[in-house]
Amino acid sequence: MHILFAKLSWYLLVVILYIRPLAEVTGSREIRQLMSMRKYMGIACGFAAILHVTLYMIESEMLITYFTDVTFWSFANLFGWGNIAFVALMIPFLTSNSASQKYFTLRWKKLQQVSYLAFIFGGVHVSLATHSIFTGVIPVVIWAIIWGIAQYKRQCKKK
Ligand code: HEM
Repeated sequence: MHILFAKLSWYLLVVILYIRPLAEVTGSREIRQLMSMRKYMGIACGFAAILHVTLYMIESEMLITYFTDVTFWSFANLFGWGNIAFVALMIPFLTSNSASQKYFTLRWKKLQQVSYLAFIFGGVHVSLATHSIFTGVIPVVIWAIIWGIAQYKRQCKKK
C-alpha cells in the first residue's frame, strides 16, 4: 500500500516543480493557470509522503528499529536519500498556510524553495528504489535544464 502513496507523492512533486519553469520557458497561459493549484497539490504530496513513510514502517514492523539501526541513515542505500527528501518536503508542507506566510514574511519563499532539495534527494531515492534513472534522476536533470533556461530568460528580461 505504501508504494501507491510513494508514487502519488513523487509524481505530484514532479508536476508541482515543473509548472513554474515550464510556464516561463514556453510562455503558455494554460500552464501558468496551474500555478494557483500548486498549493493544493503540495498538501496532497505532503500527506502522501507521510503515508508512504508511515505505512512502510508499520508494514515492515520497523517503527522503533528505524531510528536505532544505522542502515537506515546511510547514503549507500535509498534510505539516507529518502530521509533528507522527507524532511525537506515537510518544511514547505508544514509552512504552506497563511499563518506561516504572515509569520515568516520574506523568508517564507525561501522555506518553500526547500522543495527543490526534496526533489533532488527524492530523485536519487526513487531511482535507487526502482533501479532506474528514468523514474527519479532523469526527471530532476530535465527539470534543472528547464529551470536554468527560465532563469536565463528572466535575467535577459531584466536587462
Ligand atoms: C523517511 C523517508 C522515506 C523512506 C523510509 C522511504 C522508504 C522507501 C522504500 C523502502 C522504498 C522501496 C519500496 C519497495 O521497493 O518495496 C521506497 C520507494 C519509493 N519511495 Fe520512498 N521513502 C521515503 C521517502 C520518500 C519520499 C519523500 C518520496 C516522494 C517524494 C518517496 C517516493 C518513493 C517512490 C516513488 C518509490 C518507488 C515506488 C515504486 O516502486 O515505484 N519516498 N521508499
